[in-house]
Amino acid sequence: IVQPVILCGGSGTRLWPLSRTGFPKQFLCLTGTESLFQLSAKRLVGLASPQFRILPLLVVTGEAYRFLVNEQLRESGIQLGAALLEPVGRNTAPALTLAALAAIESGEDPILAATPSDHIIENVEAYTVAMQKAIREAEQGNIVTLGITPDRPETGYGYIQAEHVTSEHAYKVLRFVEKPDLTTAKRYLDAGNFFWNAGVFVVRASVWLAALTRFRPDIAETTCIAWSDKREDFSPTQNFIRPNPEAFTAIPSESIDYAVMEHGPDSEFAMKVVPLEAGWNDVGAWDAVWNALPKDERRNAYQGDVIVQDSRNILAYATSRLVSLVGVENIVVVETPDAVLVADKTRSQEVREIVRTLSKEK
Ligand code: GDD
Ligand code: MG
Repeated sequence: IVQPVILCGGSGTRLWPLSRTGFPKQFLCLTGTESLFQLSAKRLVGLASPQFRILPLLVVTGEAYRFLVNEQLRESGIQLGAALLEPVGRNTAPALTLAALAAIESGEDPILAATPSDHIIENVEAYTVAMQKAIREAEQGNIVTLGITPDRPETGYGYIQAEHVTSEHAYKVLRFVEKPDLTTAKRYLDAGNFFWNAGVFVVRASVWLAALTRFRPDIAETTCIAWSDKREDFSPTQNFIRPNPEAFTAIPSESIDYAVMEHGPDSEFAMKVVPLEAGWNDVGAWDAVWNALPKDERRNAYQGDVIVQDSRNILAYATSRLVSLVGVENIVVVETPDAVLVADKTRSQEVREIVRTLSKEK
């Protein structure tokens, strides 16, 4: 039995002004007519196979996003099992724990297939094959992640050192290092036997709870307390479950990576990584969106009402007005009704600073 779970909490400040606090990036249609969240949900539902039963989707998200989640799933024709609503973000370890508790409460001990809500995956078939392998490994009791072959010393990802056994489809994890510094990341890149963590976790619900209890009993205990005093709001059109807000707020904030993954390889818990070669893209900033979009012969990508003349390597988004560009290169232009961004594409990361300044002014 497989319980698909989407972790859907982030704000995506580097994709401002399209991504806003009230409408974060996972709900945006960046690459077409469906949002990143809708695409993530579709990929998970598509895992159904004759080998296992797949339960209705669990979405762990912030209180503020409950209607977006409901509406976008309805639009895509995907059944929502329940939305587990957090009063505040406490990062991914408590979020996954809520999903594990909900899954176990239904009387089974399913394999949680937990994915982020904000990634682009080009080759859905390759993703499905990798996930099905990961599910089989998790059935053996392993904590499983998907691994991406790194091509640069990125410091924003987790690194997984794997025991290379070329004949197998899942490698044993020797070491997991979350967000190393640049020197370390370069060393890992050169070593050749490291993957990036794709942020997908496949693990039996009871195994997750046991691992968390082993490494972070404080998070396990406080999350159980918040869950045990939950409020359920079930109606024909919406299934919302809210853990006790005061108790939830008291949970220490930590990611799955730091709370469990970094400790796993040296413990009694077995960890495996399944390579994923499927055009994975963590659309963190505008340059990554440009990467993921189809481009014209001058490598320009645009959406909406845009005219580009004698320009190269442009990303242009127009949402409410005509945007026209003449003779420019390597820039990002994003137009919305109340804000316009013009940025050097290589400095996309710095958009975060603008958002920081804006929230200070408020
Ligand atoms: N429900 C809920 N609550 N979801 C959350 C929360 C939370 O408090 N915080 C984050 N999420 C969701 C985000 O929406 C995203 O889909 C996913 O969990 C991962 O969170 P990020 O904040 O984007 O993590 P990251 O990018 O810094 O690092 C993770 O992903 C990398 C790959 O993209 C780690 O797992 C890294 O090891 C990994 O390489
Ligand atoms: Mg991320």
